[in-house]
Amino acid sequence: MTEPAPSGLQITIVDHPLTRAWLAVLRDESTPNPAFRNALARIATMLVYEAFSDAPEEPVAVTTPVGTAPCTRLVSPPLFVPVLRAGLGMLDAALAAVPDAGIGFVGVARDEATAVPVEYLASLPQDLRGRSVCVLDPMLATGGSLVHTLDLILARGATDVTAVSVVGAPEGVAALRTWGKPLKLVIGAVDECLNESKFIVPGLGDAGDRQFGPR
Ligand code: PRP
Repeated sequence: MTEPAPSGLQITIVDHPLTRAWLAVLRDESTPNPAFRNALARIATMLVYEAFSDAPEEPVAVTTPVGTAPCTRLVSPPLFVPVLRAGLGMLDAALAAVPDAGIGFVGVARDEATAVPVEYLASLPQDLRGRSVCVLDPMLATGGSLVHTLDLILARGATDVTAVSVVGAPEGVAALRTWGKPLKLVIGAVDECLNESKFIVPGLGDAGDRQFGPR
């Protein structure tokens, strides 16, 4: 389901039996950390696949064992930007799908009292003009972490930006609409709301803690 939006935000909710099944594993509070990491990688494969559904291609003639096949390849490799920590769990799957991609890193951690993102790392190419950028973060809660990351990316000149998330809240989607810049959001589900601690309800808990343990 793809929903064009007047703000420049284009949302694709990937609602498929396999994404729903892996989402059930991720949501289950009894799923142990190794199984959580595996499920996150599995669903990331599917979400990244969808995120590249309209990636520009160029023709290439490939010699097969019995002839020449008209094929295509991506025009230019993207830059993946996992948002640390939780986005790291999507990176290997993304790179398996697009091995030529570059990688940048943004580290932000929400202040536990205010839920405001605090940046502790920004390792990105200085010039992203003409480069397609794909941000990986499993959680879209208030949207603060993603908006912070997107501002860093747009400040470096990128205009073709996609965010891939597993679960979001309506409040996070609204924040992206308010942000107002062109963005493709590919997401597994948009849940009910945020609770008073700014956690997604019903969500899946803290995707960073569930992969790597508490900070
Ligand atoms: C979580 C999550 C997102 C962010 C979402 O990270 O991985 O990055 O919160 O919340 P927001 O939309 O309200 O900004 P967290 O700050 O818990 O850090 P972690 O990934 O290191 O656990």
